[in-house]
Amino acid sequence: MWGSATSSHQVEGDNSNNDWWQSEHAGKLKFSSGKACDHYNLYKEDFKLARELKHNSHRFSLEWSRIETKEGEFDCKAIGHYKDMIKTLVSLDIKPIVTIHHYTLPVWVAEKGGWENRSIPIIFAGFVKKVVEELGENVEFWITLNEPVANIYKSYIEAVWPPHKSSFPCAIKVFKHMLKAHCEAYKIIHKTHKQNGWKTPKVSIAKHFLALSPCRKTSFFDNLSKNVRSYLFNDLFVRALVTGKCIVPGLIFLFLSAKKTLDFIGINYYTRDFVNFGGLSPRGILGNICTLEHHTAAGKRNFLNWEIYPEGMDSAVKCYSKYNLPILITENGICTGDDAEREGFIREHIGKVAKSISSGVNVIGYIYWSLLDNFEWSEGFGPRFGLIEVDYKTQKRTIRSSARSFSGIIDKNTVEMSFE
Ligand code: BGC
Repeated sequence: MWGSATSSHQVEGDNSNNDWWQSEHAGKLKFSSGKACDHYNLYKEDFKLARELKHNSHRFSLEWSRIETKEGEFDCKAIGHYKDMIKTLVSLDIKPIVTIHHYTLPVWVAEKGGWENRSIPIIFAGFVKKVVEELGENVEFWITLNEPVANIYKSYIEAVWPPHKSSFPCAIKVFKHMLKAHCEAYKIIHKTHKQNGWKTPKVSIAKHFLALSPCRKTSFFDNLSKNVRSYLFNDLFVRALVTGKCIVPGLIFLFLSAKKTLDFIGINYYTRDFVNFGGLSPRGILGNICTLEHHTAAGKRNFLNWEIYPEGMDSAVKCYSKYNLPILITENGICTGDDAEREGFIREHIGKVAKSISSGVNVIGYIYWSLLDNFEWSEGFGPRFGLIEVDYKTQKRTIRSSARSFSGIIDKNTVEMSFE
């Protein structure tokens, strides 16, 4: 599978009924999404460009706040819109990969406490049931949650995303609720497909993988922090869904209603962090992220100052291949003003994926982030991740040269690299 991804709030425009919009307009965020890429109206043209670029898959998300405007009240027009998006993709021979939740919550859900509400798995299940019944016939690949752990970290530890609450107990609560919500969603998606005699669905989450290295290579304590952090951020959520339980002494003791609720593993990979040990306390053992000045010799940086580190793609695939499930790269991308850099980034990262495949790992696809330049959450419109450039004043689309070279790789289903 080859293609690219977007998410509703980042591209659609005018998503005024969700918690992000509220935060944007309450001055809690520096930037506003506004019209974004007006993809809500321009999706047909955008999908034609994806087809022109030879994409055979496309990942996008449903905007819950448009579909379930108030609790239990579903908007037929919005459902019709997403039906048409799926129909358009299918007619272009592009496989839809549908994300059900990509960070945003309807205002009514946020007002009920959002992910902190202990009923959220049931509330989410109601939404999932409706959209799967309405849209499932033409969807095989479902992503229930986008980057749950990154979402929790940004929203409940760093507090820079809605609901802007820095609270470790809340973070743990939300972690458990998200696990439960995925489990319920998984069961509903499978049941609905079965009842309707539709193709057996493939369900997963999109798991953010952060490559981690110890600050000082030979330091026992830096390595300890790196391993603890990697276990908690990269592995724990996936492990819990596979085993059906999550037990972290003193922190989490949770048995889920089902195990093996991943049919494949979706990986989002971008960058690496260096970790140093912060002392003999739970917080200290988790370590600190080193400043850039500390690692000037590390790789080049993207527009947001994230290190470009293709080797991390190896670690990502390796981290999850132990579960013996197919792997789909659900996101990988770079924000840069230098398109030649994007071209190199794509080639190198796909090269790493190819290497994993040749060593026997079942990677079923590579989805680039993103089809279009878009609204980069708390960073606004500055970072340019798109294969297609967007002029936000005129909404004019321009295909970048990196998109053409990606298209060449897709065409040959091959990337020419020398494996050292
Ligand atoms: C998210 C996207 C985001 C991208 C770049 C991923 O973590 O799923 O929504 O735009 O990273 O930051």
